Amino acid sequence: MVYLTRRERFNSAHRLFKASLTDEENYKIYGKCANPNWHGHNYELFVTVKGEIDVETGVVINLKDLSRIIKDLIIEKVDHKNLNIEVDFLKDKIVSTEIIIIEFWKVLAAEIAKYNAKLHKLKLVETENNYAEYYGEE
Ligand code: NI
Repeated sequence: MVYLTRRERFNSAHRLFKASLTDEENYKIYGKCANPNWHGHNYELFVTVKGEIDVETGVVINLKDLSRIIKDLIIEKVDHKNLNIEVDFLKDKIVSTEIIIIEFWKVLAAEIAKYNAKLHKLKLVETENNYAEYYGEE
């Protein structure tokens, strides 16, 4: 079993808030990330798959395939977009790093499974100091 990781990057705007709360209440919970006029991040997404090495090709999954899957299903939808209002699978959610990464998992896992590999881990880096990791566990 080998673990293989592909990194992709995207830039997005977002705002952390709950619609049921006032701006002041949202600032108390989310700090500057509650700014009603949005703010942005340069995200890095690390997608780790696991699988056996194919004896014919010598790889677990063709990295071009993995990159294309991530780009088609995730990057195309989130890059240079507002995560709160322009991304169908994030609509009406709190777009924290934690929730984004779980929604990314739901989108990616089934597609990667078609390629003789299994999604093992996602790592989403929001800033140089903050990142989330997810292994598909409840
Ligand atoms: Ni933020």
